[in-house]
Amino acid sequence: MNNFVSNSYGEKSSEYYDKAHAGFDPYPGQIEFLRDKAGAGVAIEVGVGTGRIALPLARHGVPVIGIDNSPRMIELLRAKIGDLPVTGIIGDASICETVPGKPPTLIFGIFNFFYILPGRDAQLNFLKIVREKLAPFGSLVLEAFVPKVETILPDGPNPGFFPKDRAVTVKTLDADHIILAVSQNYPERSVWEYQEVVLRSGSPVEIVPATLHYLRPEEFDALAGEAGLKLAERYSGWDRSPFDESSPKHVSVYTVH
Ligand SMILES: C[S@@+](CC[C@H](N)C(=O)[O-])C[C@H]1O[C@@H](n2cnc3c(N)ncnc32)[C@H](O)[C@@H]1O
Repeated sequence: MNNFVSNSYGEKSSEYYDKAHAGFDPYPGQIEFLRDKAGAGVAIEVGVGTGRIALPLARHGVPVIGIDNSPRMIELLRAKIGDLPVTGIIGDASICETVPGKPPTLIFGIFNFFYILPGRDAQLNFLKIVREKLAPFGSLVLEAFVPKVETILPDGPNPGFFPKDRAVTVKTLDADHIILAVSQNYPERSVWEYQEVVLRSGSPVEIVPATLHYLRPEEFDALAGEAGLKLAERYSGWDRSPFDESSPKHVSVYTVH
């Protein structure tokens, strides 16, 4: 996609992100799962956005450092922190070297975060940084959809659709605005280019680009292996339901070799 920079999605979606994701509460078991993995330590959420998960996790006693490469997302997060143990940092997760404090016991990227990293080199670089930064016995937790064409994507208030090639789907249909997802899948490159089109009566049309570099679960494991991480647990959801070939997404836990 031309003229796409890696924080285009965050910067442009921040204005309507909370509204579009209203009601997308943590899944049953999600906060407890993350709290277990963090133990008594600190968690880092990469691609923290406006704190949809970081804030409830902190309310359950886990200090969270949230990293996002969109300054506007971090500004919106900071406005909600109050006295919770949450720190918002502007930075690119695939190159972020400066995180204050003790090594984290948990690093997590949810809601398909890993796919937003701009290609295999950035994804591998991110995994290598995680390998280097994690506390001994710490965990990396990733949540991502399984790329099966023409299937419904499990996440979000209005589930999306993973197309074989080109598609237009309705993401949000509200009384005062509509969000359409206009997308093109390039299976030969494992790239899904995506534009959200935001239509509001009387307002200029907004378009919000995202490019997803998706992987099959076994490709995740191979890349993690290259970075010195190994798969420790895999589920099809935060309730620890077993992962199998029919699972539309995975929640995977990686630890240091
Ligand atoms: C789909 S939103 C998810 C936000 C939040 N985790 C949630 O579940 O609601 C993805 C977030 O990742 C951020 N992001 C995208 N690329 C990033 C990168 N390379 N480093 C850090 N954050 C990034 C975007 O700005 C956006 O806030």
